[in-house]
Amino acid sequence: MAIIYPSLIAADVLNLQKEIETLDTHCQGYHLDVMDYHFVPNLTCGPLFINAIARITYKQLWVHLMMDNPENFIDMLTLAPKTIVNFHVELEGQRSRLIKKIAEKGWLPGIAVSPKTDIEKVFPFLDRIHQVLVMSVEPGFSGQEFQPNSIEKVEKLVGYRQTSGLDFKIGMDGGIDENNIAMLAEKGVEHFGIGSGIFKADNPVEQLKKLQDLAKES
Ligand code: DX5
Ligand code: ZN
Repeated sequence: MAIIYPSLIAADVLNLQKEIETLDTHCQGYHLDVMDYHFVPNLTCGPLFINAIARITYKQLWVHLMMDNPENFIDMLTLAPKTIVNFHVELEGQRSRLIKKIAEKGWLPGIAVSPKTDIEKVFPFLDRIHQVLVMSVEPGFSGQEFQPNSIEKVEKLVGYRQTSGLDFKIGMDGGIDENNIAMLAEKGVEHFGIGSGIFKADNPVEQLKKLQDLAKES
C-alpha cells in the first residue's frame, strides 16, 4: 500500500515540532530535504537539525540528500534504524560506497533520480537498495509543477522489477497533489513525498487523509 510522507520543507519551519505533533498520529513518516547550495541552488538543514527532528518523532524519516559529497555528512547523522536515506544517482564514483555506508548504519539505502537523468542509471544498483526516488520536479524547491516525464520512469522501474524479480520500492517526490496521486499510485508509486500538496491546505491533517484515501482507491 502507498505511504505518504509529508515533506517538512513546506511546513511552518519555525513551528516544526508543533507541525509534527499534529501530523504524527496520521502519517507513517516524514520526508526531509537536505540541500547544500552546490548540488542544488538552495540550502536547507544540517545534521544538528536533522538529528533534532529524529529525536522528536518515532515515525520513519525519509532523508533526501541533495548534495555533492554526502559521505562525511552521513557520519554526522543520528537516525533510527530503518530510516530511508537517499543520495542522487548523478554522484558518479561514490554510489556503491554510499550504499554500503548507509546499509552499515542500519538504515535503508535509496537512490534519487533527477528529471533530466535516464532512469537506466539506477539499474546496476537496484539489487542493493531499498527504494528508487523518481524526482518529478527539478530538485531544489517545493511548490513546482509536476513533470509528466517521470511517469514513464515509473513504468520502466515496474517492468524491470517484474523481469528481475527484485523487490525495491518506488518513490516519487515533487508536485504531487490530489489531482495526480491516484493515477501515480495506480502506476506503481509506493512512497510519496508531498510538501505543498499537504501544507498549503487550510487543514493539513484533513488534506493528508484525503490524499491517503485517493492513493488507496487506486
Ligand atoms: C524538491 C524536494 C521535494 C519537495 C516537494 O527538491 O525534494 O521533496 O519538498 O515539495 P512539493 O510537494 O511542494 O513539490
Ligand atoms: Zn525531497
